[in-house]
Amino acid sequence: MIGVLVSGTGTNLQALLDAGLPVVAVASNKRDAPALARAAHLATASFELGDYDSRADRDAAMAAWLQEHGVELVVLAGYMHILTPSFLTRFPERVLNVHPSLLPAFPGAHAVEEQLAAGVDEAGVTVHIVDEGVDSGPILLQERVPVRDGDTVETLHARIKEIEHRLLPAAVEEILCAR
Ligand code: GRF
Repeated sequence: MIGVLVSGTGTNLQALLDAGLPVVAVASNKRDAPALARAAHLATASFELGDYDSRADRDAAMAAWLQEHGVELVVLAGYMHILTPSFLTRFPERVLNVHPSLLPAFPGAHAVEEQLAAGVDEAGVTVHIVDEGVDSGPILLQERVPVRDGDTVETLHARIKEIEHRLLPAAVEEILCAR
């Protein structure tokens, strides 16, 4: 059973739901994340940092909530906080992330802007296992995305997301089949 962490609009969460994957719980670090509305038929919860003494406490509470819902595999679908060991040790090598670049190039929260600023011909999508670093961890799937003349952050990110919506469910299916 899959738990998904979101912070934003949740189009990748939607792709997982549309693929019929067994998503049972969706959590966010933001109470008002639009992504939560996509999961109104599932268990949802928000874990805002300000409600906890530390990031480790917040992450422990979020991990416990997911485990209470039977979650065995966690997918970060636009989740914009680093996870601490208090979360990751509860799901060893069972946390996946989708990132809008060809990692290890352009890690971090501004990958699309930075690829455009660097003038690369090709951006990309990476799905990887999450470790304690920033967008590090073993790569599962990667695909190139062309950068076109006149691209803006919006047009390039939209093209990247089209690929993400195919690659992320495919990677999750691969992991489920391998178990
Ligand atoms: C995606 O581009 C993902 O790669 C990045 O954040 C974005 C989330 O988009 N980590 P959405 O919330 O799934 O629409």
